[in-house]
Amino acid sequence: MIIKTLTVDGFKNLRNVILSFDDKMNILCGENAQGKTNLIEAMWICTGLKSFRGTKDKDFIGLDRDSFHIDLCFEDRQRNQTISFNMSKNNIKEKAVFLNGVKLSAPSKLFSSLNCVIFTPEDLELSKGRPENRRRFLDLSVSQIKHSYLGVINKYDDIINQRNRLLKNIALGISQKEELDIWDEQLSKLGSYISVLRYAYTKRLSRTAAALYRDITSGREELSLKLSSTVFESLEGRDDYSGEMYEEYLNRLKENIDEDMSLGYTQAGIHRDDLVTYINGLPSREYGSQGQNRSVALVLKLAQAYILSDEIGDSPVMLLDDVLSELDPTRQEFVISRINNMQVFITCCEENKISRQTKGKFFEIKNGLAREIIRG
Ligand SMILES: Nc1ncnc2c1ncn2[C@@H]1O[C@H](COP(=O)(O)OP(=O)(O)OP(=O)(O)O)[C@@H](O)[C@H]1O
Ligand SMILES: [Mg+2]
Repeated sequence: MIIKTLTVDGFKNLRNVILSFDDKMNILCGENAQGKTNLIEAMWICTGLKSFRGTKDKDFIGLDRDSFHIDLCFEDRQRNQTISFNMSKNNIKEKAVFLNGVKLSAPSKLFSSLNCVIFTPEDLELSKGRPENRRRFLDLSVSQIKHSYLGVINKYDDIINQRNRLLKNIALGISQKEELDIWDEQLSKLGSYISVLRYAYTKRLSRTAAALYRDITSGREELSLKLSSTVFESLEGRDDYSGEMYEEYLNRLKENIDEDMSLGYTQAGIHRDDLVTYINGLPSREYGSQGQNRSVALVLKLAQAYILSDEIGDSPVMLLDDVLSELDPTRQEFVISRINNMQVFITCCEENKISRQTKGKFFEIKNGLAREIIRG
């Protein structure tokens, strides 16, 4: 998949940006706060997903602007396609999004047209950081290959919030215990299904990431992954999410009711799962060095891109925001060598940090404007 051209105006600080890209390597250079990440974000929202840095839709529009426009042309295996994403201040809910000139009912309908993998410095904390980051990573990965999944996750989140509110109300004597039943049934149904999908993805991820990890450590260390569930003892070979697994999930919720009530939240469920990473059999989060955990995070992201590539039969566009400058030369080289058949966008603050040998197009981003620079 290749992004050919991009036009952006009024998105955050970006103004009159008209760029045409290299099929392989694109380097976006500029000082801090000039608009590099904004440019990456403008491409990212054309995937139909929410901002990777949590920007609310209304904050996409430039502070001194009434609207923004993004036009992006890309090429996949079959054809050239165009995405147009427009939003105006006086009607934030009503986004005008077009795919090949046809108006879509919502940005999420863009999903699966343009496929990108975003890699930021926060991702380097993936294996060391908080479990919720790993859950988010897993869920985004699964949803990129199974589009209905995101809706399932959102529904689960809604219901868990309702259940937690109800738990507090029962403790206060405002609501009855029996009112939990309806939420528990829905949680068990969705939670079992999510567990099956997360488990299947983790298995696939484990295989792909282990091979990459063997490469980066020259065969000295072995990486393995496990989905740790607060509901199921083992998920191996299980797929009966509407039968036995559903019953087990429901029982687990029932067992915990009294404790959940005193705590005011639901202790067991997929919202407490974790993706545990092991190096030579030991959990890397506790035992691994900073460097080992960085390598684990790197290979997880690369594996995510490989699996997506496998699934869609085309390589996703790699968006590396500020990530290369965070890595030592060996790891930089490793990443670049593993994505050299994909289109890549890299942001950096100092152009001279990028090797003179690097082929591709260079762009300067300054005060919301962008232009191609020819290196002498
Ligand atoms: N809605 C908005 N309207 C106008 N400007 C905005 C808006 N949202 C963010 N900005 C500004 O955009 C500028 C550039 O942000 P961006 O994150 O793209 O910088 P960057 O070039 O990636 O910098 P860094 O190297 O520090 O990561 C910031 O100064 C920010 O204040
Ligand atoms: Mg940035």
